Amino acid sequence: MKNVPFLDLSRQHAPIKKALRAAARRVVDGEYYIGGPEVRDFETEMAQWMGVKEVCGVSCATMGLFATLKGLGVGPGDEVITTVHTAIPTSESITLTGARVVFADIKEGFFNIDPDDIERKITAKTKAIVPVHLYGQAADMDTILKIAAKHNLPVVEDCAQAQGARYRKKYVGTMGQAAVFSFFPSKALGGFGDGGAVTARDPDLMKRIRMLSNHGREEKYYHEIEGFNSRLDAIQAALLRVCLPHLDEWNAARRRVAGWYKERLGEVEQLALPAVADGCEPIWHVYVVLAPDREALQQHLKEWGISTGLHYPMSLNLQPAYAHLKQGRGSFPNAEYACDHMLSLPMFPDLTQDEVEYICEVIRGFYAA
Ligand SMILES: Cc1ncc(COP(=O)(O)O)c(C=O)c1O
Repeated sequence: MKNVPFLDLSRQHAPIKKALRAAARRVVDGEYYIGGPEVRDFETEMAQWMGVKEVCGVSCATMGLFATLKGLGVGPGDEVITTVHTAIPTSESITLTGARVVFADIKEGFFNIDPDDIERKITAKTKAIVPVHLYGQAADMDTILKIAAKHNLPVVEDCAQAQGARYRKKYVGTMGQAAVFSFFPSKALGGFGDGGAVTARDPDLMKRIRMLSNHGREEKYYHEIEGFNSRLDAIQAALLRVCLPHLDEWNAARRRVAGWYKERLGEVEQLALPAVADGCEPIWHVYVVLAPDREALQQHLKEWGISTGLHYPMSLNLQPAYAHLKQGRGSFPNAEYACDHMLSLPMFPDLTQDEVEYICEVIRGFYAA
């Protein structure tokens, strides 16, 4: 029996450990611990990497989304539409502005937001749309952008799980009015603590986001507006600068792992492998299959030493935190079906072909029995 972890960051970090230590030392020996040259250089390097004008480091994607929505003028009395099938930070950031979260279901056969349901949910109060590129695959941006343009609404891309994913050859984060990234350690570009970044097309919006996340100021002790504290630490920026040049190769490795799964599980009739939508090049943040008897399969894999995950066991409408919305079971049938059947298999750049073969053999054994 092998032990296969769900995620093993130590393998990913081993070849760059020396550079990481040197970067951390640079910050410890320097004089800037929040902001400063490391943050500025990281922002420049990330902007160059994705081909945008400007990036602003923030303390995490949750606060980056909050700053972006606030910067767009979203507040009490407004509504913001997002997917019901996401990590709670997406919807938390909406509620933080004082606006009401309006959930849309996911598209049947996929895990991303259904543009038709977005359109159905638009009202006179709608102020923005927040599509999430879930599991590392882009949402249906052509259709979403068309709907947004028709209703004159800004689109804020939640790229927390998809840095480096492409949609019709374009990087996610380059299509909406603004986009937010997460450097939570397990993300494609993971830091060594919390961190995030925002990019926006409009320089004025970018300026507002930068100010909001730094106590509403550009200059020390002069506060143009009231903001909050959501800055990127210098130590995170320095470490992320070591990781960023490896992001493309790490994402390519994730794609290779997804290819092995597809090759070896394609013929298991009982499993639905993740579908790739037209024009998408996912980075496979997680590799999620749908299984009719998910609990039994998960238990079987555990018994054979294989760790798995659930992203997510409950769609947001069923979480106690959203009980006040009174959208019980049956309100979002596609998301609820996905949550009841999904299983996330091990996925990280350094997962070996042998490990994937072992996982697939154990899965095939489960169904053969
Ligand atoms: C889709 C999505 N949005 C937002 C976030 C929030 O990211 P952070 O942990 O950096 O605040 C996450 C992280 O789990 C996420 O998966």
